[in-house]
Amino acid sequence: MNEAVRKLWPELDWIRDEALREKTARTWEVALERSVLSAEDLGVIPFTLLCGPDLKVNFMDHKRCVVHIARASGEKMNQFFGNDLPVNMDVLISGAILADVGKLLEYELDDSGKAVQGTYGRYLRHPFSGVSLAEECGVPPEVCHIIAAHAHEGDLVKRTTEAYIVHHADFMTFLPFKSHPAT
Ligand SMILES: [Fe+2]
Repeated sequence: MNEAVRKLWPELDWIRDEALREKTARTWEVALERSVLSAEDLGVIPFTLLCGPDLKVNFMDHKRCVVHIARASGEKMNQFFGNDLPVNMDVLISGAILADVGKLLEYELDDSGKAVQGTYGRYLRHPFSGVSLAEECGVPPEVCHIIAAHAHEGDLVKRTTEAYIVHHADFMTFLPFKSHPAT
């Protein structure tokens, strides 16, 4: 994996399977190669365009928070439910790291150089573009399922346990900003 992605995602080290870790990192590398955004931009731009101009939480802080919550949730479910509802931690962590990777293709720069949603992103939101990028990098279907089903597009999908966890980790860290925007 390259240095930019290693710096962006220390959480990649939590994936035990080396091949899956590399495929997960590679997906981010490809997305960064094709994006108008740089790795540095991701530490500055707001994590969503849906909460108005006052949102200060940056893209990476939100994405990493989702991964941390997903991992802690998976560990607790394994601790309390054991074999009754086993959570595959590698699949969970890889899926959480990749859930929003397609967002890198959703942005265009406007005339003032500001990142805004572009035409590609309007036609293909990040659950779709994320799956496309991940499959290209050899990411297995159980992880692509998490990318595909993490947002509202996935509400008609029969989610796996890992996909449910990522979906809720994502929304519990997004909806409060939407209903109680910073003033
Ligand atoms: Fe998302």
